Amino acid sequence: MRKIEDVRARRIWDSRGRPTIEVDVVIQGGLQGRGVAPAGASRGEAEAIDLRDGGSRFAGYDVQNALAAVRGEIAEAIIGLDAIDQRSIDETLIAVDGTANKSRLGGNAIVATSMAVLRAAAAAAGEPLWRYLADGKPVRLPLPEIQIFGGGVHAARRVDIQDFLVMPVGAETFTKALEMVADVYAAAGELMARKGPLTGVADEGGYWPNFDSNEEALTTLTRAIETAGYGNGEVMISLDIAASQFYEHGHYKLGLEDRSFDTGEWIEVLANWIGTFPILSIEDPVNERDRDGMIAITQRFGNKLQIIGDDYLVTSAGRVRVAQAEGAGNAVLLKPNQVGTITETLDTLVAARAAGWGTVVSARSGETEDDIISDLSVGWNAGQLKVGSITRSERTAKWNQVLRIEEMLGGKAEYAGRSALPKGLR
Ligand code: PGA
Ligand code: ZN
Repeated sequence: MRKIEDVRARRIWDSRGRPTIEVDVVIQGGLQGRGVAPAGASRGEAEAIDLRDGGSRFAGYDVQNALAAVRGEIAEAIIGLDAIDQRSIDETLIAVDGTANKSRLGGNAIVATSMAVLRAAAAAAGEPLWRYLADGKPVRLPLPEIQIFGGGVHAARRVDIQDFLVMPVGAETFTKALEMVADVYAAAGELMARKGPLTGVADEGGYWPNFDSNEEALTTLTRAIETAGYGNGEVMISLDIAASQFYEHGHYKLGLEDRSFDTGEWIEVLANWIGTFPILSIEDPVNERDRDGMIAITQRFGNKLQIIGDDYLVTSAGRVRVAQAEGAGNAVLLKPNQVGTITETLDTLVAARAAGWGTVVSARSGETEDDIISDLSVGWNAGQLKVGSITRSERTAKWNQVLRIEEMLGGKAEYAGRSALPKGLR
């Protein structure tokens, strides 16, 4: 029994310069764990709702109400509970909040507390978090999805597609995987600089997308992989379409190209890209409410592509089970703050894995230096990790933590590579 003795909360700042919430959970003996709430920009409709103060200060993003919730009701509910019992603490948080979407106490207050409890339990066990979570079971270092160009709402809609990423499936180790991505990132920068001056980076550290079309970004990325010297499928492309962001009244509107497509036409646009570029994974290819579109895309491409539900599944185990029964997608993005607790995130992973789905632990576009998701991806043996680019410290904090875990594993370190893909693609 490691009783929770104190719960503290403070306001800190995220990578977009917005307030967020950090929670410390102190247990018997003075050990403590810390959790920080990240924040999405392209959020699914059914996500856990962050509690923000509204008003005009910091554009309404301040978190004084969420801080008060942690210091008041949350502290009262969990002080005295055993930090080792994550599930019952998370159930307590859900019950005290009492809403379906955690809007009363705030998804931000709840997830930061849930993470802090987990870290406190690992501290009590005297283990690094990943090893505490693995509990003796085998682990793999994740296949990373790393952003080269940002887009969508993370880049003022300069291009429509949100993430142009690469997956170094052919690497032998995690160390080598990051080297390959660094090569591609540098090559992409050189190609872009030939076109005009580089104009900074998007929210997750990928280059600001100075392109005339979405296809030009894909062509440039394909060329960057080639000029970096990677062929034969060693480095593949992954796209987060985040299609809900440019779906309006039954149409997909590419603002950059001033083109509009109905669902059938949009799927043909994607099919054309899939046939032309070395794409291995695609996320939220259609509007988050479009079950038929997800099923159609899975039927057509599910035997050669990873098809990830992010906004479509919102890290919900129930939604994953329904999607599996319907054949809508073959992988899930796992964002702890999207569902709101560690336990619910793990339940979603377990449900996805049971049917041979890919499981991708993911950061948000608004992040901090906190690196819990790196340990989650290894400790839960999720197989994949998506964090953003290989620049900006809130991103590299996560990749660098995986390098440290690789070193701790020593000779036992195994890189997931293709083994992390959905069954049938491994
Ligand atoms: P978000 O973006 O954190 O802004 O939701 C990440 C993603 O869509 O995967
Ligand atoms: Zn996404």
